[in-house]
Amino acid sequence: MESRSSGAKPVVLVTGAAFGLGRATCDVFHERGYRVVAADIDAGLVAETAERINADGGEAVHVVTDVTDPEQVEAMVQLAGKEFGRLDAAVNNAAVPQAVSYDEPDSTFVHELAIDEWKRVIDIDLNGVFYCLRSELAFLRKQGEGGAIVNLSSGAALLALEAMVAYNAAKKAVFSLTETAALENGPYGIRVNTVVPGNMSGTKMFLEVWSDRDPKDQSVLNEHSPLKRTSKPAEIAEAIYWLCSERASYVTGVTLTADGGGSIRHVKSHVS
Ligand SMILES: NC(=O)c1ccc[n+]([C@@H]2O[C@H](COP(=O)([O-])OP(=O)(O)OC[C@H]3O[C@@H](n4cnc5c(N)ncnc54)[C@H](O)[C@@H]3O)[C@@H](O)[C@H]2O)c1
Repeated sequence: MESRSSGAKPVVLVTGAAFGLGRATCDVFHERGYRVVAADIDAGLVAETAERINADGGEAVHVVTDVTDPEQVEAMVQLAGKEFGRLDAAVNNAAVPQAVSYDEPDSTFVHELAIDEWKRVIDIDLNGVFYCLRSELAFLRKQGEGGAIVNLSSGAALLALEAMVAYNAAKKAVFSLTETAALENGPYGIRVNTVVPGNMSGTKMFLEVWSDRDPKDQSVLNEHSPLKRTSKPAEIAEAIYWLCSERASYVTGVTLTADGGGSIRHVKSHVS
């Protein structure tokens, strides 16, 4: 873990900060003057996230955290207090997709899905978000100055994906976590919202799910959005930043869908 001197700047905590959207989110908050606590299970890459920010004149620390371990999660949140003296925003972004099998797709369908795979995905994508929310909300309530939290869901929670039942279910449950937490914590000035990305290219998850496939399949992903392209992580990070900023001071309990319009229309239009 590395640290630099703290000042009066606001502090954001981001999970899954080693790669993809998590790293892009750290960069966007840093650009807007936040100090950053970057957390991930990947020790090497999360250190790099913090090093890049520090090298750019910012203030960041990294912490190796497995979000499925409530004790590690609590230590991660306490680190914000120890290193920077406060916490203003938290982004619960860490997640994994369900393992994909193109050779034996049935093995990933509901009727054959291995119980261990179900439990693995639910533990990271649902229980992990709960553990993070639990520790972050306790910290923010004790601090007594409000705060903002964003949980990451997915377009898979709006339009179910085949061979992804555990991921779909976990991401749908994130809506419920957000709504309940927003209700319970509004009186303390703590806002809790969900961001739903659509297909976001260049991330580890995107490469893991789509890299084995025919490149033509990936052009189908572009067609899914009326904008005819996938998003970059930085575009989704901007939506997360806005929800955490004072500009969104009256926004809580909502789902901000940043999917390039992909969920507007499920089937191809009859006129195009
Ligand atoms: N990429 C997409 O197309 C897409 C689409 C919709 C939603 N999302 C959501 O956006 C978020 C970011 O996804 P991404 O594409 O940047 O993924 P990514 O795989 O690039 O990054 C996820 C990060 O989470 C970390 N992580 C995994 N398990 C962890 C654990 N147990 N504890 C702590 N960290 C752990 C990984 O090491 C990785 O750095 C996720 O919540 C994902 O579900 C992604």
